[in-house]
Order: sequence, then C-alpha cells, then structure tokens
Amino acid sequence: MLPAVPRPLVHRLAGRYIAGATIADACRVVEALNGRGQLATIDVLGEELARPDDARAIAAAYRDVLETIEARGLDSTVSVKPTALGLNLAYDLCRENLLSIVEEAGRRANFVRIDMEDATTTDETLRLYRELRRQGHGNVGIVLQAYLRRTLDDIDSLADLRPNVRLCKGIYVEPEEIAFQGYEEVRANFLRALEALLDSGCYVGIATHDERLVDEGRRIVGRRGLGPEEYEFQMLLGVTERLGARLVGEGHRLRVYVPFGEQWYAYSLRRLQENPRMAGYIAADTVGRLLPGRNGRS
Ligand code: FDA
Repeated sequence: MLPAVPRPLVHRLAGRYIAGATIADACRVVEALNGRGQLATIDVLGEELARPDDARAIAAAYRDVLETIEARGLDSTVSVKPTALGLNLAYDLCRENLLSIVEEAGRRANFVRIDMEDATTTDETLRLYRELRRQGHGNVGIVLQAYLRRTLDDIDSLADLRPNVRLCKGIYVEPEEIAFQGYEEVRANFLRALEALLDSGCYVGIATHDERLVDEGRRIVGRRGLGPEEYEFQMLLGVTERLGARLVGEGHRLRVYVPFGEQWYAYSLRRLQENPRMAGYIAADTVGRLLPGRNGRS
C-alpha cells in the first residue's frame, strides 16, 4: 500500500533515514557520526534516471562530495547506484561516469562502493566492477545480496579478485526462481555467504540490522580471530542506532550509509517498507484523515 501513500507523508515518515537535501546536511550528519566513533558512506540520491545529462550531473555531484569529504576531513567513503549513473540508459555512459568517480576517489585516497540494485542489473554491475579492477583500480568494492540464489557462485567466481564486499540481504522484489523468499532461508544464505567471503580472504562489510545476524557475524569474526580492521559492520542512517552504538562500544567498526539529495522518494519507500511499525503509522494517519477529529483535525 505504500505507493498509494501521499508523498508529503512519505517525506515526513522517512525523514530519519535521509540526511537532508544538501551536501552540507550530509556533512553535518557524518561529522556527528564520526564524533561518535562511526564511519560513513555517502549516497547521492537518484536512480533510474531518464536523461544522460542527469546521470552526468549525479557523477559530478559525487566528485564534489569526494572533494568535500577531503576538505572537511570526514571519515567517509561514497556509495553509488549504477542506475543513478545511467546504467538503464547505456552501459558505456554508466562506465564513464563511474570511472570518473573512482579516479577522483583514487586521487583523494578514498573508496567507492557500487551498490547492487534489482536483479536485471546484477550481471552488468559485476561487469563494471571487474572492468575497473582489470584497469588496476583497487579502491572500489561491490555489494552481494544474500537473497539471490546465485550469490555463492558469484563469490566463487570473484574470489581471485579478493573483492571488498558489502553483504546484505537484498531489498528488491525478486521472483522465486532466482531469489530465496523465506526469512530464515535468506538468513541462512547470508551466513553461508559471509563464511565463504571470509574463506576467500575478502574484507566484508556485514550490512544488516538483524540482531541475530549481527550476533552471528560477531561470533564468526571472533572465531576466526579477525581484528577490528579486517571487517566492518554497516547500517543505514536512522535504523537500529542503539545496536550500532553497542557494536562501536565493543570495539567493532561500524559504517553508516548516509543518503542525501532531492530525489528522496524511491529510497524512502524502500526504507518504510522495511520498518516493521510503518503499517501502524500509516494506518493511524489514514484513519486520522478519513475520520476528521480523531487526530485533532477537523
Ligand atoms: P530485516 O529487514 O529483517 O531487519 C532487521 C530489523 O531491523 C527489523 O526487524 C527492524 O527492527 C529493523 N529495521 C530494518 N529496517 C528498518 C527500517 N527501515 N526502519 C526501522 N527499523 C528497521 N540492499 C540492496 O539490495 N542493495 C544494496 O546495495 C544495499 N545496500 C545496503 C547498505 C547498507 C549499509 C545496509 C545496512 C543495507 C543495504 N541494503 C541494500 C538493504 C538490505 O538489503 C536490507 O534490505 C536491509 O538492510 C534490511 O535487512 P536487514 O538485514 O536489516 O534485516
């Protein structure tokens, strides 16, 4: 029912997940996170763009972000979505845009994470990554999604590159033929993938708010005797902040995903869809609007 929810309500409910509209907003949030011993990765909002110039503008915005991160001494990388850089328009457009960001990051000793979007983009996203690595760019990482049945094979075929991988459950709606649907199945594959990545010597960003997976992740890195520099946990801005703070208090590294920008709608819908209390909030608001007077309005 979320797409039927009025945009202003989506904006209001999703406010906690987004740093704000401008780079200054993102910097303020990152500074606060860094002050609490947390790392960040900044995302310029925008995806599935319609015109090549929009994709080029997003790439330019990322280069500005990298400059600002350095100028302000922030501890933050960047995360990019291939469709924000034009993947759905033309592969080469996206490759050029991505390369310009990775080169800028390289000049500034920074790192670029390529987010993983829906399954129609997986092959091309991995191809972009491989091309960059083949060209000698080591400051780039990818994301693998535990809900995809192909993920263990992808880990195998990427192993020789020892990729820096963010492992997450996966957020897009995918058909059963290619993606596990059950909550426990996805959890089990997440842990299999985590072990396989660590077996291959990869640096892993364990990206989840699922307390069970966080606990298992902790146990797995502990059992392997990994130091805090050899992996990290990752969470989204505005989600399970207490759990994140606890990890930092225990000496683990935590990186928080900080999105900012004007194009907040698609990202907001995905976050609201995952918030277990959202149906209640929306129902309360809808009832409030349908039954004047119930929420003080008439
Ligand atoms: P799950 O959804 O089961 O959530 C566990 C618990 O966390 C919930 O029970 C709830 O308490 C809390 N929670 C989760 N989301 C919440 C919300 N929005 N509001 C309030 N509480 C919430 N996906 C993808 O397909 N491609 C990508 O590139 C990325 N990138 C990415 C980066 C980072 C840093 C993170 C943490 C996640 C992603 N994701 C992603 C999203 C990921 O695939 C997944 O959809 C979410 O992390 C939710 O899954 P969890 O593992 O947190 O479990």
